[in-house]
Amino acid sequence: MPFLFLRGDITKLDCDAIVNAANNSLLGGGGVDGAIHRAAGPELLAECRTLGGCKTGEAKLTKGYRLPAKYVIHTVGPVWSGGSQGEEALLASCYRRSLEIAAEHGFESIAFPMISAGVYGYPFEQAKAVAVRTVTEFLQTHDMLVYLVFFGNVPKPEDAGLTNYLSRYEAPRDVQRKSLRKERGGFAGLFGNALGSAAKQAECMPACMSEAVCDNAALPDDLNQALRTVDESFTEMLLRKIDEKGMTDAECYKKANIDRKLFSKIRSDLHYRPKKVTVLAFAIALELSLEETNEMLRKAGFALSHSSRFDIIVEYFIANGRYNVFEINDALFAYDQLLIGA
Ligand code: APR
Repeated sequence: MPFLFLRGDITKLDCDAIVNAANNSLLGGGGVDGAIHRAAGPELLAECRTLGGCKTGEAKLTKGYRLPAKYVIHTVGPVWSGGSQGEEALLASCYRRSLEIAAEHGFESIAFPMISAGVYGYPFEQAKAVAVRTVTEFLQTHDMLVYLVFFGNVPKPEDAGLTNYLSRYEAPRDVQRKSLRKERGGFAGLFGNALGSAAKQAECMPACMSEAVCDNAALPDDLNQALRTVDESFTEMLLRKIDEKGMTDAECYKKANIDRKLFSKIRSDLHYRPKKVTVLAFAIALELSLEETNEMLRKAGFALSHSSRFDIIVEYFIANGRYNVFEINDALFAYDQLLIGA
């Protein structure tokens, strides 16, 4: 998975490089700077002394010493002064220059803290948006595993539509069961609307509709006939949809936040059995409708379920035509869910 959100202490991460939100002197400080210097030991400061400081928006490389990470890339973020002093461009430059140094040294993995979002006062959501935009831009032309590490609580995205959609399915158990019985038609209608003709044709609600009764179509009377009518596989549908959308393979798997190796594995195995998050990653990258998404999920043996917060969040974004995998991961991360991609 090329871009992953993590919650925790960046000094514990064993990756090729971690990024330090330093100050212009590079001689240590508080926050993540202090934590990195404490964990790396005095040799780090000794090397930093030889670097002659660092300009805001620039980045410099040192070894990691006692850290699990092999290297530290020190960058200096802008101090927030209201947003009219070029802060956004300087912050983007911190991420870009750090990524460029990592690429120049052939690093395969790098972890960022939320640069400038602490002592330097950059508003959290705006700082995160700059980080996500700059990293995803870089990953369009580079293969690297990038972590964005959050320390402590992450505010939930202000998305009234999502909060409302979640609350629809997360009423307390007894209320939910009563409303389900009361709105049986409505609930089925909602799912029917969302799934469109596919549900009507199949005359069967998705497997997750525990209350619905499915009249399965009569099964063929012998196994051979059944096996002759095997449906298109997940891989076949994926490759067909990439062609139909006029996308290249790389455009699709990068937009899906899926790494190249996994895509090659899927492409070479017509009966590949993907994880559910992988299927959803491709459905989002291909901007499939909810009906097509459920069709692709069924081909891989899954269904969207309203008993899963993860599924409800993903369904909300697809139903509203919002196909940015990082925006969806932002919401999933804030609700402590698995992330889209692999
Ligand atoms: N792991 C990951 N993230 C961390 C850690 C940690 N161990 N410690 C702090 N953070 C987070 C903070 O919660 C914040 O979201 O790093 C982000 C950046 O906060 P700061 O460390 O305060 O960095 P910044 O806002 O860029 O200010 C830099 O602070 O420490 C001094 O010397 C540093 O003068 C410089 C200034």
